[in-house]
Amino acid sequence: MTTLTLSSSTASSLPADVVVVGLAKGEQHPVLAPGAESVDEAFGGRLATVLETLGATGAEGETTLLPAAEALKAPVVLAVGLGEAPGGDDADAGTTAPGEYAAETLRRAAGSAARALAGRSTAVLALPTATAEAVEAVGLGTLLGAYSFDTYRAAGGDESAGRGRKAPLGEAVIVVPGAGDDAVKVAVDRATVIGEEMCRARDLVNTAPNDLYPEVFARIATEAGQTYGLDVEVLDEAALTEGGYGGILGVGRGSQRPPRLVRVAYTAPGAERTVAFVGKGITYDSGGISLKPAGHNETMKCDMSGAAAVLSAVISAARLGLAVNVTGWLALAENMPSGSATRPGDVLRMYGGKTVEVLNTDAEGRLVLADALTRAGEEGPDVIVDVATLTGAMILALGTRTFGVMANDDDFRAAVHATAERVGEPSWPMPLPEHLRKGMVESTVADLANMGERMGGGLVAGLFLREFVADGITWAHLDIAGPAFNESGPFGYTPKGGTGSAVRTLVALAEQAAGGELPLG
Ligand code: BES
Ligand code: MN
Ligand code: ZN
Repeated sequence: MTTLTLSSSTASSLPADVVVVGLAKGEQHPVLAPGAESVDEAFGGRLATVLETLGATGAEGETTLLPAAEALKAPVVLAVGLGEAPGGDDADAGTTAPGEYAAETLRRAAGSAARALAGRSTAVLALPTATAEAVEAVGLGTLLGAYSFDTYRAAGGDESAGRGRKAPLGEAVIVVPGAGDDAVKVAVDRATVIGEEMCRARDLVNTAPNDLYPEVFARIATEAGQTYGLDVEVLDEAALTEGGYGGILGVGRGSQRPPRLVRVAYTAPGAERTVAFVGKGITYDSGGISLKPAGHNETMKCDMSGAAAVLSAVISAARLGLAVNVTGWLALAENMPSGSATRPGDVLRMYGGKTVEVLNTDAEGRLVLADALTRAGEEGPDVIVDVATLTGAMILALGTRTFGVMANDDDFRAAVHATAERVGEPSWPMPLPEHLRKGMVESTVADLANMGERMGGGLVAGLFLREFVADGITWAHLDIAGPAFNESGPFGYTPKGGTGSAVRTLVALAEQAAGGELPLG
């Protein structure tokens, strides 16, 4: 993992493998971003012109390497594109004060730079850092962009393995005028915690499903709980049977690897509020007897992304010492076809007693979540937020970078959407239309069926979950099927594979709950 340090020295005076500056699109020519002044001076004030000569435009994500001027202590300069300069004609009016770059712009630029810095051991970041928020954004973008998942790569097997793979950047020195200020130190600590925890979630998602199955996931949660002082309770198959968790057991029955329900709790001394997070943790989704065809199952190790985000968010709350209790529920099962698997047509008795006719074993996420939502509700939290790679329909609706937000309360749904936006996670509010409930309650034999109308499948799934939320509890559901796993190329601070989707939103919601800033009930 890349380490972040701070320095209030002049960027040009710091020794490193490379010094990074920001370049934005000006009205006619690219312009250097604040922070680059001393580096520009070493180029006799001509750095932007030199970069333009090399073809740089300042476009978002663009990276340009050039040999450094003699007066610098680093041999190479990397210019990273920030997109439109703020305050200009094309600036996103209203969101950015003149001269200030939006936090997400800085996160993305730092991420693009960090990816381009793979293979180097030290970099000085001479990027805009006028506010603590900007420092946090640069730090977080750097950690996230530098991420690489190497568990299965040959040891030291970069170039020698013939793939031209390079080790991630070792150390990033962020140049900040007020490096000693408390607000700046807090910002870097926060970036470090969130960055490391998002990378923990990415690692869990990227780990192959033959290595990460419910028992292993539960053990990882238990060990992390010991490290960070969390209370961890694991229900194994015997305890699940004893407790009547028919949803989780029904989904896990087809697998050689039995299911688990994990409760991970962070208790803040004297806290008045409790938030509960519930994560879908299908460690592999083959579809079960309603087997997915080839072409639809290759990435289904990502189906535990919700549980990964929940675990990371609870650990983040503990590491940040938030003044709110946070309880995470990981609903872990492997969905496989076999002679013991649940069949389409089977009826499950869920935790709490409702019965569900399973019409499609590939609609398994809602079954494990139903048990966990009921169980989470028994403890009477102030709010429940579940996170799940729940439906392909949500990807069709919103694309691969935006998650859907459903809720049983309009104000809370709006608050979740606004919070996600603020922390850099694109999301969109989705409705729970009452008429879609009809198809789902029309099982000929049970209280509910696990499928309804095909049209609006993401909303049907949300309506199914709502049936298991106790009256009086404010609840939101995040369908992260699109953004949880990036199948295309890396961009900004987002790598291929697991992304760490929803961690930032959950942590920010917990922070707001601590500050009494959420519209609850
Ligand atoms: N895990 C899938 C949803 C999914 C699809 C996540 C693609 C990420 C990428 C979920 O369990 C599923 O199979 N949903 C079905 C539901 C249907 C059978 C009602 C779907 O979306 O097709
Ligand atoms: Mn499925
Ligand atoms: Zn699934």
